[in-house]
Amino acid sequence: MVIIQWFPGHMSKARRQVQENLKHVDLVMELVDARLPLSSRNPMLDKIIGNKPRLVIINKKDLGDATETQRWVQYFDSQGIAAVPINAKEQQTVKKLTQAAKEVLAEKLQRAAERGIRNKAIRTMIVGIPNVGKSTLMNRLAGKKIAVTGNKPGVTKGQQWLKTNEALEILDTPGILWPKFEDQTIGLKLALTGAIKDDLIPKDEITLFGLAFFQQYYPSILEKRYNLSDQEFNLPAADQIMLLTKKYGFKEDYDRFYDLFIKDVRDGKLGTYTLDHVSELKHEEDNQ
Ligand code: G4P
Repeated sequence: MVIIQWFPGHMSKARRQVQENLKHVDLVMELVDARLPLSSRNPMLDKIIGNKPRLVIINKKDLGDATETQRWVQYFDSQGIAAVPINAKEQQTVKKLTQAAKEVLAEKLQRAAERGIRNKAIRTMIVGIPNVGKSTLMNRLAGKKIAVTGNKPGVTKGQQWLKTNEALEILDTPGILWPKFEDQTIGLKLALTGAIKDDLIPKDEITLFGLAFFQQYYPSILEKRYNLSDQEFNLPAADQIMLLTKKYGFKEDYDRFYDLFIKDVRDGKLGTYTLDHVSELKHEEDNQ
């Protein structure tokens, strides 16, 4: 996992690097985390890539709530953006993404074919915030373990293409962009999944947020995992922390419970989940 401290200088370097590489590609693959299809997007990507064709790749679908992932695919579709859920660790990902890239560029490929240009590989680059699975996906698409040397913001070098198959080539340098830090809830969501450094947000805040979130969206999983009675389940998150810390025999060492809870969430012990819900987005839009 690459840990990057983002400062304004890093941001503008990273942005310039992506813009430079954009010139060489037909399509941008924007990688997001299925647990955070919105919060794991870079806030400036639209501006950075302009009208370059784009495919949103919802990675780590094995960790996300499948129903919610489907809703996100529909949401992106309603915005005119093709989106495809994948697990970068699976072999079938290669075929899926090759097909999806061809679909996004169907008109362009058709026009090229009419001019007699056929079988030209689609050139693409992968962009995303740290930890969304860029290296894993690039290894998968390249069919071998590659050293993703340019995997730092602002590192530019000559373009090298990794061949996936006859139809697809990827730039060997992914575009690493920064997450949306400005919103506190987004920060909490990123922290809960481990997308940002652990010491950026206090563990008690992450746990309070996480418990309240699971209480609201995935109540039965929470109840079952921590063996909560109805009365215990309905307690505010802060009281639940006190109760569970005692229940686990940690006395008043709340840190031990925070560690346990955060690890449970990240390890999928609370099942598959999605922290960004399309319904919330609609609500926000309606309130604007
Ligand atoms: P990055 O280049 O964007 O920073 O991300 P990277 O590929 O390093 O992936 C970050 C973590 O996410 C890795 O786990 C990786 O294995 C995991 N990952 C990537 N794609 C998927 C996916 O589709 N599903 C699941 N479940 N995990 C995925 P790690 O624990 O940091 O490293 P490792 O021990 O697995 O190598």
